[in-house]
Amino acid sequence: MEIVNRISQMQKISREWRKEGKTISLVPTMGFLHKGHLSLMEEGKIRGDYLITSIFVNPIQFGLEEDYGDYPRDLEQDCKLAKEVGVDVIFAPSVQEMYPKGFQTFVEVEKITETLCGICRPHHFQGVTTVVAKLFSIVNPHLAFFGKKDFQQFVTIKRMVLDLNWEINVIGMPIVREEDGLAMSSRNKYLSQDERRSALSLNRSLDLAKKLYQEGIRDTEKIERGVKRLIGEEKLAEIEYVKICNKVDLGEISQIKSEALLALAVKIGKTRLIDNCELGGEEQN
Ligand code: PAF
Repeated sequence: MEIVNRISQMQKISREWRKEGKTISLVPTMGFLHKGHLSLMEEGKIRGDYLITSIFVNPIQFGLEEDYGDYPRDLEQDCKLAKEVGVDVIFAPSVQEMYPKGFQTFVEVEKITETLCGICRPHHFQGVTTVVAKLFSIVNPHLAFFGKKDFQQFVTIKRMVLDLNWEINVIGMPIVREEDGLAMSSRNKYLSQDERRSALSLNRSLDLAKKLYQEGIRDTEKIERGVKRLIGEEKLAEIEYVKICNKVDLGEISQIKSEALLALAVKIGKTRLIDNCELGGEEQN
């Protein structure tokens, strides 16, 4: 496994692989890898000839008050894990390499990013789409893999690729959970024992929503209310949003008629966690 820090070197490698007619898979990450990331890499390995993982904590997707400085980092352990899954190249550029002095071009997807997480994190998705657009243009992958825990990110990137006519297949992979049901996230590391116990209410509330749906409830407000009540019982939890929306464009719906998404963001102590489940339809990828 090769570790590449320079953009020019990464471009050269993928250019050569493309010339050989090989299929390139990319798994973009911010490092501190967990089983969720590894599941994306395993799929990337199966579906492509070569697998590239990028590790870059992208400063422009964090708000001023957010945890960019504290975001967990462990490149050595990440390299070990990536090697075990069979990653061919880790692309780990510096901030200077990605955003040199004078950088002033940003990619923005509009409507889909203005709801859910976009309300409390107004510049977040612009930061994500800009860095992912750069990674796509540097690596030039055929396939790119994203976890559906960040469902809004996944549909936003799909939209960007469609709108910009890039020939990249954006693949969404199922949420990977800890044994107790907590969705895997690098930020779980911030949780104290009590907070972690409270955080389990997120997954429990999704189970409740699925149960209500199975019982025939289609009124989104009713399901959202049940979910909010369950999470609200946790003293350490502060709900940012609980929303059922259209799975394709994240638009508001009052009744679940076809495929819908229940998405939520909750602060447990100082840690902001997101989770979601799909209601009424096949999984999207
Ligand atoms: O999901 C993430 O880890 C990040 O948002 C991504 C896609 C790697 C962009 O920085």
